[in-house]
Amino acid sequence: MLFTVVSRSLAALCNHGFEKKAEYSSHEFERPTYRKHMLYATIGVGVSVATLFGIKNKVQAKSVAKDASQPQKLIGGEFRKDLPVYRATDVAKRDSKENRIWVSYKRGVYDVTDFVAKHPGGEKILMAAGGATEPFWGLYAVHFAPRVMELMEQYRIGNLHEDDVIETPSEEDGPYGQEPVRNKILVARSSKPCNAETPPELLIQDFITPNDVFYVRNHLPVPQVDPLYYELEVTGIGIKDKSFTLDELKKFPKHKLVMTIMCAGNRRSEMNKVREVKGLEWALGAVGTAEWAGVRLQDLLESLGFDPKTNKAAHIQFEGLDLDPASSPYGASVPIRTALISDVILAYEMNGEPIPRDHGYPIRACVPGVVGARNVKWLGKIVLSHEESQSHWQQRDYKGFSPTVDFEHADWKSSPAIQDLPVTSAICNLKEGDVVQPVNGKVTVKGYAWSGGGRKIARVDITCDKGKTWHVARHDPGDKSGQNVGWAWTLWTAEIPVSQSGTVEIWAKAVDDSYNTQPETFENIWNIRGVLSNAYHKVKVHVQ
Ligand code: MTE
Repeated sequence: MLFTVVSRSLAALCNHGFEKKAEYSSHEFERPTYRKHMLYATIGVGVSVATLFGIKNKVQAKSVAKDASQPQKLIGGEFRKDLPVYRATDVAKRDSKENRIWVSYKRGVYDVTDFVAKHPGGEKILMAAGGATEPFWGLYAVHFAPRVMELMEQYRIGNLHEDDVIETPSEEDGPYGQEPVRNKILVARSSKPCNAETPPELLIQDFITPNDVFYVRNHLPVPQVDPLYYELEVTGIGIKDKSFTLDELKKFPKHKLVMTIMCAGNRRSEMNKVREVKGLEWALGAVGTAEWAGVRLQDLLESLGFDPKTNKAAHIQFEGLDLDPASSPYGASVPIRTALISDVILAYEMNGEPIPRDHGYPIRACVPGVVGARNVKWLGKIVLSHEESQSHWQQRDYKGFSPTVDFEHADWKSSPAIQDLPVTSAICNLKEGDVVQPVNGKVTVKGYAWSGGGRKIARVDITCDKGKTWHVARHDPGDKSGQNVGWAWTLWTAEIPVSQSGTVEIWAKAVDDSYNTQPETFENIWNIRGVLSNAYHKVKVHVQ
């Protein structure tokens, strides 16, 4: 148990302390090295506690920020003769709205109390309240973007004493210093944390997406988990508490599950064209299908006395081993009925191999039919509860709103957390502006279609005359094991007769077996976070 706690702190706060490992395997984690890891863990916990107690400036906190944030190129933070000089101890006193919120960056001291209120996402800076922002650049590169620093100069109130300025740490020592090696073919959407999608042509190459090109959606650095010391804590209503080692988990019968995972933000970039939304600009590759294998959640719970007929829990919560700087784990929950009626597994294999680090090594929750966000990676804890997960990602993210609701008026409490995703489809072999040569008067169109909640794809309709005539695509061969009960996507192909040359707009829409279909445009489903972006997929090509 102690290890679990320490490893969590370690995972988020000081995985920068580990030796660099390009790939993991169970052999990599030798015990002597582990002692060194524990030492770093202790330092990491110290940094965390110090952070919480507002004495960050005295700690040489380690973090790094390059690429997305490029802090070394940021404007601001230079000494200004016209402003007073403050010590770090002065800044430390200003760590709440009541006392005003001050932060420092290089030689600059800023009063960000009003900045936080005015700028969506500005609250991330509160992690640095009363201290230096530098330790957080690496972790939240996306939020501490250069334009944020530019904006912050407007809130400049002074200079930090030169003795108190935090040293810029090296990249290897930062929280993202020990990330897995990734296939360069993935299309990067952010690098710290890593968010990268599969190129469309690779999505349709095979029903199963190979591990190394499977999209990656991380909110935090990838934790380094030692399989020898890994434990999964299971607790909550109506069950006996127990922590399982990896070996103990592997003793349960092994179940396979062919399942598609899709991010709620997949195809956000198309919605963004209607009106700007907040979020990573995913095209259509934040989706993939794999054969996952592991322990059935129900088997594990039943071993702890769980009785589906009498158990009073309403939700099942999953916590990851990746922590944010305030030591909160990534977390999500699903209603207990989802966990019981579907084939939820705690997977340790992805396509016949140990799950790669980016995808949740050593254990990940696989909740079929449900939005990617609930498929928690690096699973550290399961809780059966009356309440949903209280994590940021369950309560204040991954929710949909009406098109007229802006950030200021979004009532996060009243909007349900996204669970099953709506039906969607995408054309993958043609992209905007392609020049297409018809063969025998026909253009070949290929893509994927998928619907949440286990609903199979009934049909995919294609048109190249804006809906006057539709052509039904044929389903490509699916899962060879025959296990596809609607948890996985359908790949499809259509040969569309095209009579005219010049610009042709090809549209795809899917229909699931509940006869749900996609909306025609993004206008009426637009929402502030750009989630559930499932309108018809439309691609303009030039036919020769
Ligand atoms: N689990 C943890 N612990 N941390 C995360 O950042 N991201 C979630 C989910 N599980 C996440 C997580 C999101 S938003 C998605 S879409 C999927 O993982 C992505 O899974 P993948 O990276 O294996 O494709």
